[in-house]
Amino acid sequence: SKIVLAYSGGLDTSVAIAWLKEKFGAEVVTVTVDVGQKEDFKEIEKRAYKAGASKHYLIDAKREFANDFISKAILANALYEGKYPLGTALARPLIGEKVVEIARKEGADAVAHGSTSKGNDQIRFEAVFKALAPDIKIIAPIRIWGMNRKEEVEFAKRKGIPISESSSKYSIDENLWSRSIEGGELEDPWNEPPPEAFEWVTPPEMAPSEPLELVIEFDKGLPVAVNGERMELLDLIGFLNSLVGKYGYGIIDHMENRVVGLKSREVYEAPAALSIINAKKDLEKLVLSKREYRMKKQLEDLWAEMVYEGLWYDPLRIELDEIFRKMNENVSGEVKAKIVKGSFRVVGRRSPYAIYDRALSSYESEWFPSDEMARGFIDVWLMDSIVSFQRKFGVKK
Ligand code: ARG
Ligand code: SIN
Repeated sequence: SKIVLAYSGGLDTSVAIAWLKEKFGAEVVTVTVDVGQKEDFKEIEKRAYKAGASKHYLIDAKREFANDFISKAILANALYEGKYPLGTALARPLIGEKVVEIARKEGADAVAHGSTSKGNDQIRFEAVFKALAPDIKIIAPIRIWGMNRKEEVEFAKRKGIPISESSSKYSIDENLWSRSIEGGELEDPWNEPPPEAFEWVTPPEMAPSEPLELVIEFDKGLPVAVNGERMELLDLIGFLNSLVGKYGYGIIDHMENRVVGLKSREVYEAPAALSIINAKKDLEKLVLSKREYRMKKQLEDLWAEMVYEGLWYDPLRIELDEIFRKMNENVSGEVKAKIVKGSFRVVGRRSPYAIYDRALSSYESEWFPSDEMARGFIDVWLMDSIVSFQRKFGVKK
């Protein structure tokens, strides 16, 4: 039999190769998907073969990740629980799709992933497999084998699997949209993340004290240029990650509600994601009607929750994408921001589609509405509330 494994190159999935071979007597094909993680993919390939893979695939899906996954998150201003831009959650369906593709090509009977029973990732992976390949068996070695980290290291040594000594004390998941840092001393929510936990963001206290001025241009809700320089989405995100990160902006530290009924302390780096979403939210307030804006906020939370919870294939998510595409039709224009020592402040915005009308809103133009119009409006607007208040609390006229 043949098993196709989603392979990150880390300890868990490396041990999984040898374990799957031994346990199922199967041939193991590994698939590593490049979604923008900064890894040595040659090393990963070598490790796969050393651990016993019969064939290894490296798939460059960076552009696809930006254009077909991250772009949707941008249109939705997606921040799970108001904070997390969903890098890991967005990459899982894409990685899963590639694994299914290879499983078909290889005629495999099973697919495998290296997620634990405590996490969200198992749900996200299995959602893809179930949606696209219901006939293929799913194996989650880590949920089965019951080894702790020390036992895994021993198993790896016994099997001659090279384990990278640089292997961090944290559990890292990195892609173009965010870098997540879990585990180690961060499991105590009181412990401040040490500076060395961060790779993308200079801790604010060490960042330069002169501000970075940033103008992000949007076209129909997607960023298309930074400080006048046009870039495709993939490059623009990479550019912002390194530029904005130097100014100390992009660290997220929060308590997160997982799908599995657990809370976890999560630390992320996401300078580009936070800059783009915060700038875009500001632009939307300039161009959307009041009720479009309010409804969009509610739908955004719904979208973020669904994607976090592994419901990528739910028709509602796909339909919400259509709504967001519509709602973003006029979200074009520029946002000017200042970033200094970890703070991000929008200082200007403009758009050909602005609803804001300076002449109407200004205190310096002639008075509209007139006193008479204002009185009439206030009477009618407040009528229900005022009458109800007086009935209930007995305030006399
Ligand atoms: N809590 C985040 C999420 O659920 C990050 C998970 C990171 N995954 C990992 N395998 N380290 O999306
Ligand atoms: C895992 O269990 O694989 C990592 C954590 C998560 O999925 O949330």
